[in-house]
Amino acid sequence: MARGRESFAAVKGINLDIAPGELIALLGPSGCGKTTTLRMIAGLETVTSGSIKIGDREISQLPASKRGIGVGFESYALYPPMSVRDNLLYGLKARKVKGAEQMVSAISSRLEMDGMMDLRPAGLSSGQKQRVALARALVRNPPVLLLDEPLSHLDASARQRVRRELKVLQREFGYTTIVVTHDQVEALSLADRLAVMDAGVVQQFGTPDEVFDDPANLFVAQFVGEPQINALRGVVTSGQSSSGRVRIEIGSGAGTLESAATGVADGTTVTVGIRPQDCVMTAGDGPGLRATVAYFEHLLEFGLATSTVAGAEEGIVVQTPAQETYQPEQKVVVSAPPERVYLFDTDTGERLR
Ligand SMILES: Nc1ncnc2c1ncn2[C@@H]1O[C@H](COP(=O)(O)OP(=O)(O)OP(=O)(O)O)[C@@H](O)[C@H]1O
Ligand SMILES: [Mg+2]
Repeated sequence: MARGRESFAAVKGINLDIAPGELIALLGPSGCGKTTTLRMIAGLETVTSGSIKIGDREISQLPASKRGIGVGFESYALYPPMSVRDNLLYGLKARKVKGAEQMVSAISSRLEMDGMMDLRPAGLSSGQKQRVALARALVRNPPVLLLDEPLSHLDASARQRVRRELKVLQREFGYTTIVVTHDQVEALSLADRLAVMDAGVVQQFGTPDEVFDDPANLFVAQFVGEPQINALRGVVTSGQSSSGRVRIEIGSGAGTLESAATGVADGTTVTVGIRPQDCVMTAGDGPGLRATVAYFEHLLEFGLATSTVAGAEEGIVVQTPAQETYQPEQKVVVSAPPERVYLFDTDTGERLR
């Protein structure tokens, strides 16, 4: 737990067991406690309870300088009178590291920094400063590397390239790394495992596939995945059938969806989560959830149909194949494979299985 000036608990429930050489992404909305978590690990924030270990070594009471952790935080803290090269070399020379020059030039070229090595920080754009801060964290070759939004100021294309390079360098050097980001694409592309955080608590810790395919609660289901998962109110109508499926009635006579979730009693009101990619939509009538197309977007590789469901507050978004086109007012039927229809507790958001 981190204690601020007024004893504010920014982080309440974190339990991450990270393997050596693993890259973990801490993903969550603004204010959920990501930076605070990194600062606690780095030793820049006081931990009121719990333990932080690197291997068998308890570090939570050690000062930041004794923890052997490399940090790249959002504020760059570069030395203004020094060139970029000297900023990168500074810590290494102080520690008389052998091969410092070679290390600095190798890493800076891979982060596309060759053109800025002789400039002073004041002459750099924020994206360039961010690359210097990242390079500075990397050249120290720390066993543990903490990066807070390391690519947030780069433009889209540089961001993709530097992201790939960061992943390659991390593999090559084997730094155990925690990257904070609120960008799910960045998290999914970089991470071996993701910790999805909300309100100071890790909501789920797993591989990108686990988090996407088996969300622990509605928050995780809604935070990971683009377009966002559909969340519809429904009532379980016939408990467990012989096929091990339950039927959920949506809206007023709009039809039903089947879920593979067992153990949800008849008559329970639930929140049904279905990803737009998992929905199958057909024109006309038939079994499934009947809906009316309100809005159709053709997005080259696929389409997105936003439809209304009679008697349901929420609409449903379906990702459709590129060759299909739908018109507003068109009647459609939506279904999904039962194992991809998730049920959540309407009050707590917890997954019902
Ligand atoms: N020392 C402190 N005293 C009081 N409140 C604090 C303190 N440190 C952090 N907070 C609060 O704790 C919460 C978590 O902050 P934190 O900076 O860790 O969020 P974050 O997930 O990094 O967000 P962002 O994505 O915006 O950077 C915020 O609501 C913040 O205002
Ligand atoms: Mg932050």
